Amino acid sequence: MGKALDGVRILDFTHVQSGPTCTQLLAWFGADVIKVERAGAGDITREQLRDIPDVDSLYFTMLNHNKRSVTIDTKNPEGKQVLEALIQTCDVLVENFAPGALDRMGFTWERIQALNPRMIVASVKGFGPGPYEDCKVYENVAQCAGGAASTTGFDDGPPVVSGAQIGDSGTGLHLALGIVTALYQRTSTGRGQRVLAAMQDGVLNLCRVKLRDQQRLERTGTMKEYPQYPNGTFGEAVPRAGNASGGGQPGWILKCKGWETDPNAYIYFITQAPVWAKICNVIGKEEWATDPDYATPAARLPHLKDIFAEIERWTMTKTKFEAMAILNKYDIPCGPILSMKEIAEEPSLRKTGTIVEVDHPLRGKYLTVGNPIKLSDSPTEVKRSPLLGEHTDEVMAELGYSPEQISALRTAGAI
Ligand code: COA
Repeated sequence: MGKALDGVRILDFTHVQSGPTCTQLLAWFGADVIKVERAGAGDITREQLRDIPDVDSLYFTMLNHNKRSVTIDTKNPEGKQVLEALIQTCDVLVENFAPGALDRMGFTWERIQALNPRMIVASVKGFGPGPYEDCKVYENVAQCAGGAASTTGFDDGPPVVSGAQIGDSGTGLHLALGIVTALYQRTSTGRGQRVLAAMQDGVLNLCRVKLRDQQRLERTGTMKEYPQYPNGTFGEAVPRAGNASGGGQPGWILKCKGWETDPNAYIYFITQAPVWAKICNVIGKEEWATDPDYATPAARLPHLKDIFAEIERWTMTKTKFEAMAILNKYDIPCGPILSMKEIAEEPSLRKTGTIVEVDHPLRGKYLTVGNPIKLSDSPTEVKRSPLLGEHTDEVMAELGYSPEQISALRTAGAI
């Protein structure tokens, strides 16, 4: 079966996490992704957080599947010529260098357009135009500047960053959408365009509900589903809400059987209004279904802490999986707190290709997260990440270079 992006060639100038997330997705959808790296060094993550000496790290392998790797010194004049040839034959250039690095290499938007007017140039940057546009940015900087950290954690503690890489991988996802959209627009205009995904913007987009809450707070001075209500105080900005649900159905994380020794023996429990009577039955508080202090969502808001304490008395008598099985029978929305170990071992995730075992010539077998987006007519086969420069000769030959020319360029340090 063919792939959705068959025929699309990506010149991949990305490194670390944000950009590689984007180009890995495009590769999984069928694009030919040619990753350009510096000879002898490559993407810095090849050597970061290594678990096996001298072998590409999991950090690198898990973000660079299905790509080809070529080494080019883009500051060498002959290397620049190779890059020009690639620009002329590719559809998209994706990069996440620090601001200005591509221009300093001599590849400004104008220059790229002159070489290939159909070229789409897609960039991840830390910030869009403004006071911080020249700054280098990593994941947690974006989480802090995009509103995630100030709204995560508990009221009485400091801001907290999330384990979910919403700044890096999240922005990579945003960029991938921008690229396929630009490719679509090119089918009618015939022209390339620039695509920018700033990490601050990407994080803020994912924190949209908190900007909603900021405005609700300013208008009403309170937010009744936040844990600060009714006994705490609200300040001028959206406070940290602990584990409160971000939506209109109150939720909280509750202890389950074994919580004293297992740090993940917890369940997320949502007191969804339509199933309130069933919740009351399950936890043995049938009277709450008709008690005017508990019967309606509005009446329950001042009592949420007590309600969750009562539900927790019930969840603590069950393991998280036993509680799930019972609650699901009654359509009560809930979710187990799964550890990475449990996720890695979950058979259903293996079956769908969301967790995949990959074989690598130097490291052997390892697990990775497969394509989370499933297309029925474009199935994903996860292929191992390339070794540094593994495809340099192959790609150079496709560009029309002879073996002698390739060898001369290598001697000159251009590739
Ligand atoms: N040949 C020659 N030079 C190359 C090259 C190649 N194949 N590939 C990269 N380089 C050069 C660049 O031209 C740049 O040189 P310059 O600074 O002289 O212009 C240099 O390598 C380093 O690039 P830079 O992006 O500045 O790397 P860094 O390690 O200093 O910074 C980041 C890393 C992630 C902080 C930075 O790239 C950044 O802010 N990126 C945008 C935001 C982002 O994506 N952050 C998240 C990363 S997960």
